[in-house]
Amino acid sequence: MKIKLKACATIANLVCGFDILGLALNAPYDEMELELINEPKINITHLDNFNLPTKAEDNVAGVALQALLNAYENKNIGFNVTINKLIKPGSGLGSSAASAAGAVLGANQLLGNPFTKQALVGFAMYGEALASGAMHADNIAPCIYGGVTLIRSTSPLDIVQLNAPPMYVTIVHPQIEIKTSEARAILPKEISLKNAVTQWANVAGLVTGFLQSDYELISRSLEDVIVEPYRSKLIPWFDEVKLQCKAAGALGGGISGSGPAIFMLCKDEITAKNIAQVMKDIYTKIGIDFNTYVTTIKSDEIFFSK
Ligand code: HSE
Repeated sequence: MKIKLKACATIANLVCGFDILGLALNAPYDEMELELINEPKINITHLDNFNLPTKAEDNVAGVALQALLNAYENKNIGFNVTINKLIKPGSGLGSSAASAAGAVLGANQLLGNPFTKQALVGFAMYGEALASGAMHADNIAPCIYGGVTLIRSTSPLDIVQLNAPPMYVTIVHPQIEIKTSEARAILPKEISLKNAVTQWANVAGLVTGFLQSDYELISRSLEDVIVEPYRSKLIPWFDEVKLQCKAAGALGGGISGSGPAIFMLCKDEITAKNIAQVMKDIYTKIGIDFNTYVTTIKSDEIFFSK
């Protein structure tokens, strides 16, 4: 009993929705294979060269699968998991979430789908806790549900799928690594009421913009007065990238998850490709290696093949 799947990258926060909004991407994605075995073990093999831990209790896919197995009636089963990680760890594109979410999705499929998607999010969040020290679900939920998701609450879990109009997503990943735990540690513990009002107005605006396919409202709402001022300092030339991309026609964007990747939403493919060129020009000029992606929101579930 084996299954192959593609676990997609995700963009968490969507600028103003720290820890509560995320979307699934068609590219990049990790390739995973799971095999159901008749012994209570989790064996993990990595085909990539990222030096990630393979002991189940130290691996994000391993702890997510263990949480699933703890909730499953048959205690005499386990999994062989093979991961080919194509989403770079520490990129801000939900690399750890893809492994954890992919593992529990694959396991659930092999077991005949005994668990709901919401339960799977709960299991996969143990992977996030291991990776970043925080049980956030804004990468996990879109990876499992597809599309754009709102995490109204993590305890108890309350996940809302949001409709959104067609959009292109342009991403630049300057090749530096930012650990989510460190990007969280630099954030203030308290914020002013003034900033809170601005932020929740933007979150409400962004969600309404998605639901009403109002690109102008989406564009106006992609502002973050709480997190970006701190985290943007970790990303070389962030302000310049944002400024030039918006001038070139992007609806808006910002830090993808905890960075360093920067994403921009665009209405059409031509603009999205132009934005990629703007990003390339900036990082080429300053001599920082980078990857770019021009992709779309992945609206359906994870891809499986036997
Ligand atoms: N919401 C999380 C954060 C996402 O910004 O720390 C991390 O990918």
